[in-house]
Amino acid sequence: MKVALGSDHGGYNLKSKVQNLLDKLNIGYDDFGTDSCDSVDYPDFAKKVAVAVKKEEYERGILICGTGIGMSIAANKVKGVRAALCHDVFSAKATRQHNNSNVLTLGERVVGSELALEIVKVWLTTEFDGGRHQRRIDKIGQLEA
Ligand code: RB5
Repeated sequence: MKVALGSDHGGYNLKSKVQNLLDKLNIGYDDFGTDSCDSVDYPDFAKKVAVAVKKEEYERGILICGTGIGMSIAANKVKGVRAALCHDVFSAKATRQHNNSNVLTLGERVVGSELALEIVKVWLTTEFDGGRHQRRIDKIGQLEA
């Protein structure tokens, strides 16, 4: 699996920790920025990661801002992207099983880093359940048409 990573300034520090985790888990990734805590606009980074996932250049994307909300709103504008904002482990697992989410968004100002890393681990390792959930995802696709 290869992961596309992105953040704004509000998520920059947590993104570095996620990079360390991915290194430890031996999961490949590319960082689409930002590369400092200087103020930037989160939609620019959401777009880069979401489009890369939509084009299937990456299987998954992880986007981090202050709340995770802006990244989630922006990434979900890209057709084919199912971005899930998760601040608990249950949701991270359920959104993979039920929504086949392909982008995870996190808020560095909302969740502690240890919990955030646990969420990332669970989200990356949980498979989609398929079945009736695929039918529902197909209906989301129809909303995009
Ligand atoms: C930046 O200050 C902040 O608005 C951004 O990181 C994010 O929380 C937006 O949803």
